[in-house]
Amino acid sequence: MPSVFLIGGTGHVGGAVLDQLQTEHPDLPVTVLVRDEPKATRLRAKYPRAQTVLGDLSTGDVVTSESRRADIVLNCAPDITHEPAIKAALDSMSEPGRKQKGFFVQTTGTSDLYDEPTGSPDARVWDDMDDIKEIMNFDPNLTHEKGQSHLERRDPSIEHPVPLTTGAFVTTARAFNSGFKINTGENQFGWVHCVDLARAFLLLVDNALDSLNSNQPPAEPAGFPLWGREAYYYAVLEHVAFRDFIAGLVPPMHKAGVIGSIDVVSVSSKDAARVCLAGTQEFNPDMKLPPLDSWQIHMAVGMGVNMRIRPSRLTKLGWKPREVSIMATLDDIIPLYLAWEKALSG
Ligand SMILES: NC(=O)c1ccc[n+]([C@@H]2O[C@H](COP(=O)([O-])OP(=O)(O)OC[C@H]3O[C@@H](n4cnc5c(N)ncnc54)[C@H](OP(=O)(O)O)[C@@H]3O)[C@@H](O)[C@H]2O)c1
Repeated sequence: MPSVFLIGGTGHVGGAVLDQLQTEHPDLPVTVLVRDEPKATRLRAKYPRAQTVLGDLSTGDVVTSESRRADIVLNCAPDITHEPAIKAALDSMSEPGRKQKGFFVQTTGTSDLYDEPTGSPDARVWDDMDDIKEIMNFDPNLTHEKGQSHLERRDPSIEHPVPLTTGAFVTTARAFNSGFKINTGENQFGWVHCVDLARAFLLLVDNALDSLNSNQPPAEPAGFPLWGREAYYYAVLEHVAFRDFIAGLVPPMHKAGVIGSIDVVSVSSKDAARVCLAGTQEFNPDMKLPPLDSWQIHMAVGMGVNMRIRPSRLTKLGWKPREVSIMATLDDIIPLYLAWEKALSG
């Protein structure tokens, strides 16, 4: 029977993927890479059929050996800074002597689509089929490999109940003591629910399993290859202007005491970066900016850019988002994030 190796299975996205794998394919052997034993114990308690293996993408050896054994490798952990381990995993999946080349799916991000962080609404919509040649030729030094959109909350993950972006919004608002937007905040970015994203993973897993079980090349139900260099998928439910997003976040942040004012201040992305960096310390407008490749800059820029995408590839394969809008979840996200933040700090 084919087997799956899942990296990032404790995460927000990977947790949703694991949840669906266990529901849809309860007999499919799944081994999850976990970074420490307490997390492994909690994961096995929730999913007794799953196997766990301890390891880290920054060292790579376990990742290589498990990828060699698996037929399908799903990476829902960060792609950036882990290229050597990911390359080694890929190499091990196509070694001579394997009965069949393995299947690999990975989450990335869409920062290669970012425009200037001005809060302006004028932006191109990128299509993962029509624009694929252009997308594949983006500057390889941009932050991510090719990828999908921001991810919305729902918490199959035990360890990461809210999107990884929530912390930066809360920290920045906390430091401004109010809502904030970059200039007019009309820039839009795309959101997808992690459960809908997991459904896209399952669609690919099912295609791989059919191929592995029949010993036939993967089916092409929509007339294009689901695998290979250009097999790259956007997933999005909706595009939300940042000013609307922050208008939804302000009431729960105010109610929870994160911010003292319900105002929304208009700032530059540089100030957002400085504030994001300063955290609860007093904001110094002359503070040196953090390095350009830092998380604070990545997030601060992200708050002012457009990131608009069309998921043509998944749509043609019959994928349709079914989960609720990000706006319907904001009241829940803040208390959940604050409880998680408190648990981590203490
Ligand atoms: N969420 C978003 O809004 C968003 C948007 C665009 C792109 N993405 C991409 O999607 C990926 C997954 O997002 P997410 O929201 O699920 O992130 P997440 O909740 O932070 O989960 C990350 C997962 O990766 C694991 N991980 C982190 N560093 C690792 C390492 N060095 N070795 C092995 N495992 C490691 C984490 O393990 P621990 O539990 O031990 O921490 C966790 O299981 C992101 O990394 C990013 O590339 C996410």
